[in-house]
Amino acid sequence: MLADFGHTVHAVSFRGLGLNAQYFIVFKRLKLTHIAQIIVAAGKGARIGGDIPKQYRPIGGIPVLKRTVNATLAHPDISETVIVVAEGEPHIADIITGHDNIRTVTGGATRTASVKAGLVALADNPPDLVLIHDGARPFVSKKVISDVINMLADLPAVAPTLPIVDSCKSWEGDDIDRDQILRVQTPQGFHYKEILRAFEIISPNDNFTDDIAVAYNANITIGFTDGEERNFKVTYPEDFAKAEAMLMKDTPASYIATGTGFDVHRFTDGDTLWLCGVPIKCGFTLLGHSDADVGLHALTDAILGALAFGDIGDHFPPSDPKWKGASSDKFLLFAIDKIQERGGQLQHVDITLICEKPKIKPHRDAMREKVAELCGIPPTRVSVKATTTEKLGFTGRSEGMAAQASATIKLPE
Ligand code: CTP
Ligand code: MG
Repeated sequence: MLADFGHTVHAVSFRGLGLNAQYFIVFKRLKLTHIAQIIVAAGKGARIGGDIPKQYRPIGGIPVLKRTVNATLAHPDISETVIVVAEGEPHIADIITGHDNIRTVTGGATRTASVKAGLVALADNPPDLVLIHDGARPFVSKKVISDVINMLADLPAVAPTLPIVDSCKSWEGDDIDRDQILRVQTPQGFHYKEILRAFEIISPNDNFTDDIAVAYNANITIGFTDGEERNFKVTYPEDFAKAEAMLMKDTPASYIATGTGFDVHRFTDGDTLWLCGVPIKCGFTLLGHSDADVGLHALTDAILGALAFGDIGDHFPPSDPKWKGASSDKFLLFAIDKIQERGGQLQHVDITLICEKPKIKPHRDAMREKVAELCGIPPTRVSVKATTTEKLGFTGRSEGMAAQASATIKLPE
């Protein structure tokens, strides 16, 4: 009998829900259901080939199986994990290190034999429910897992599925009604005792492509939930490129912000002036409420500009005696902190000092080093330049100096 359980849920054989369903609903409510999972990872990955099986090869620097383990352990209802691995597999140790609730058992020559090894390993302390998942499906979501668990309150066997959008044909070319068939994913969930029994009655050489097929063979009622395209099984070499592309798309959207800053200070009598955090002994200085470091002030404003967070005068008013003689490092470090608070990343800064004197070139590398240190970026991302105004205007007459700066910041949307 075909039963419809909602928009995507069908049962291929239906034997009534009765007491079992109420039992699990009560257990779920009390959060007492013992849910174990078996991750099968004993395959050779022959379709992908290579030196090591696909489940140990990295996607975005992390082995496929480690991703699968992390994704499934992120689900709060799963309290115990058995990973089925090939005999003597050297790569598994790195994956399970640090997890107390994971055991490994040795798999068999077929996926069916490997699943059976996992089920038998759970027999000592039998769980209420067991989820059986392919180690080669690293992008399983919490939702897919939860949907399976939730339907297990009503049915003893559940699998996530996807519809087929392409036309389907037999090898003879006959049309096959695509509405009659589904793509089946994992995790497939079961009432533990029922699926164990279903595996016990098959003969040792039987090879089923999945566990729902074993349940079907034992006449167990089956329900289907929604699968997800992301939950694909890494099967062919090109699946690694597909997975990497998917991860790239997952990284949060960001944008590049550019801010500019400008500042001027007047020359006055003195001995040393501060430029870009570096003291220059030149026989005069710059007049200002703080240390008058025109370079750092322009840069601070450039950063605040990229963050659209006001200007230096808003945060450090010259009227406040607290900032009298202050070292301008403080202003810059404040702006850098704001970048971090926003989750941003300073990419590059460019400062232009505009003056007839002092000569900037001899101090330029020291300035780049100092600004890089304050900004927490390498000196290769810091530019310090100088120019004159050809003796024109207030800088040309050496009444003071000006600085302009730009800051480029990567910010999350
Ligand atoms: N699997 C297993 N034991 C086997 C065969 C397969 O535990 N004897 C596992 C695989 O490691 C995989 C999952 O079952 O996580 C699904 O199988 P499949 O994608 O077919 O993986 P492989 O058998 O490794 O790949 P191939 O068929 O290309 O050799
Ligand atoms: Mg296989």
